[in-house]
Formats: sequence, structure tokens, C-alpha cells
Amino acid sequence: MSSIDVIDFDEMLSPIRYDHATGVLSLLDQRLLPAEEIWIECRTVVEVAAAIKDMVVRGAPAIGVTAAYGMAIAARRGESLEEAATLLRATRPTAVNLFWAIDMMLKPQRQGGAFPGMIPEELRARSIHTMDVLMCLKIGEFGAPLLPQGGVLTHCNAGALATGGYGTALGVIRTAHKQKRGIHVFADETRPFLQGARLTAWELHKSGIDVTLITDNMAAHMMQRGEIQSVIVGADRIAANGDTANKIGTYGLALLARAHDLPFYVAAPLSTVDLATPTGRQIPIEERSAREVTHVGDKQLAPDGIKVRNPAFDVTPAGLITAIITNVGVARAPYEPALAALARTMPGPLL
Ligand code: MRU
Repeated sequence: MSSIDVIDFDEMLSPIRYDHATGVLSLLDQRLLPAEEIWIECRTVVEVAAAIKDMVVRGAPAIGVTAAYGMAIAARRGESLEEAATLLRATRPTAVNLFWAIDMMLKPQRQGGAFPGMIPEELRARSIHTMDVLMCLKIGEFGAPLLPQGGVLTHCNAGALATGGYGTALGVIRTAHKQKRGIHVFADETRPFLQGARLTAWELHKSGIDVTLITDNMAAHMMQRGEIQSVIVGADRIAANGDTANKIGTYGLALLARAHDLPFYVAAPLSTVDLATPTGRQIPIEERSAREVTHVGDKQLAPDGIKVRNPAFDVTPAGLITAIITNVGVARAPYEPALAALARTMPGPLL
């Protein structure tokens, strides 16, 4: 922990480390987890953009923090920030945190923001990283009391690995676990990239939180048998009306939760709320490569030449969401006024 940090990123299991002495950004390679814990080093904004696109780092808030450091690296190398922003914006279209962080980095820097040994852009990226973890901790505080005792199902990975540290949906679970609320977690494996099986299972297991892995098609059965009492997920973009884009499969879980009369929670920082996008219909949905569907790792499962669709996200209509847990409070329907009111209380950048 450096003298300028108000939180310990290692303790928060942050997958992102920036060394301002060398200008090197290290990212925990999430493509290799849980088999290998390898950190990849990025020295240029081109390398940072490639790491986001290839999903070395993933999860909406983590993508935003990484892009902020990418901008800082460009500034340190005397490169154009506008060009760096264009490159980074082209990496992944759905997670609005990416655009939020880039815009934050392009804002004029306040005078006197420098810290010995750091350029202002490095300090600003650091403050975005810090702010992200602090927002996750607040989400945990607001969300933990909402989780009923028993089984809580989560999808994809909205944990420390998907953020600056600690996590959003898993941040709520972490805080509920600390408060001994008697929960146990079911993690959906999350086809096709397996963020649940590889990342959520790894992260919760490492933190000593009771977690059981299920395949995506088991959720309905587990709900019908009374083993699941709530569902909590993260978000990549929340439209002004509360419609929420998250990992493909989330919408199906929201429908299942409604059918079984279970609460369905979305946990996200206000940097994920996009008031400029009126409804879910306007949210761009990323299509990823066919290979993610036809293969698991290097093993091919489907015939050569088969037609494939691979939308990486879906949109859950606001009407299926019990509450949206943010860093400044909990929004409930009608979401449009509730989210707008919360957005007005969002603390500005730390610098
Ligand atoms: O494709 P990914 O792994 O980046 O998708 C991640 C998700 O869908 C997460 O649930 C979302 O970004 C929230 S992370 C706190």
C-alpha cells in the first residue's frame, strides 16, 4: 500500500496494479484463472486496449479502471489523449463504465492535483481506481441487509475480479458473509466464457465464502426445490428507466425469479447508470467470436462451419428488478425518478 492510498488494493483482491515508478500496468490474466495466476504487464495504451478486448481484464468497473490507467500511460509517454480515448472506446461497447472513465480522464485537471513522482493523469486514474473500490464497499453496506437467509444465486462474475476490488454483487455477498447473515452462494457457470465456474467460484472459494457451482440450466430446478431465496447480479449498463444490460443469461434468471416469487437484485455503482440512454433498447450489445461458443478452451465441441450467435449481454426489463443497489442508496420502481435522484448525489471525482 503506497502512502497516497486510502485503501489496500491487494486486500481488496484488485486484479489491477499500477506502478507509477515504472509506468507499468499489471493485470491478472482472467483468461487463465483458476488454473494459473499470471499477471500481464502493459506498457502502452495499445497493449491496454488489447487486454480489454481480449478479456485479460473484464467486468464493467474493472474495464473502466483499466482504461483510466491506459490514458495515464499515454499521457506519461507524451501521446495524444484523444487518440488514446478513441482506441480504448473501440474495445468493448456495452459496459458504460469504460466510457465514463475515459470521459473522466479527459476532463480538465484541477490545478495542484499533482503528487510527488506522479503526473496528474496517473493520480486521476488512481483516484478512479480508489473511488471504484469505495463504491463497491458502499454497495455492500446497502445491499447486505436485503439478502434473505439461505441460497443466493449469482451469474457471471461481479466480484473483486470485475471491479477495482471487492465487487458489486459479490461485494453485497462479501458484506453479508462478514455480517454472518446465513447465506450460501450458488454460482451459475455462465456459458460461454465461464466467468461463474472459473472466476466467481475461484474468488469466493479463496475468500472462504460458501459457494456451490451449478450449470446455467439448473437454476429453475433449484428454485422450484426451494434451494434459492434470492438472485443478485451486476450490470454493464443501466438505462435511465432501469432496464439493465448484464451477462447473457441474466434476463432468463430474472424471469425465473419472477415465476418463483424471488427477489431479483442488481448491484452496480452509479458509474454504470447511463441516464443518456433512455431504455434498454438503445444499449449496444456486444457480439463476440463464434469460437467462444464452439470451443471450451482449446477443445472444439461443435462441427466445423456451423452458424453461431454469441451476444455477450442481454437486457433485463426494469419491471423484473426488485431493486437496484448503488453506492449512494437503493433504487426501487419507478426507476426513472429514483435513479435520477440518486445520480444527483453521486460524489464527483476525488480530484
Ligand atoms: O463479458 P464480461 O465478463 O466483461 O461481463 C461481465 C458482466 O456481465 C458483469 O456481470 C458486469 O460487468 C458487472 S461486473 C461488476
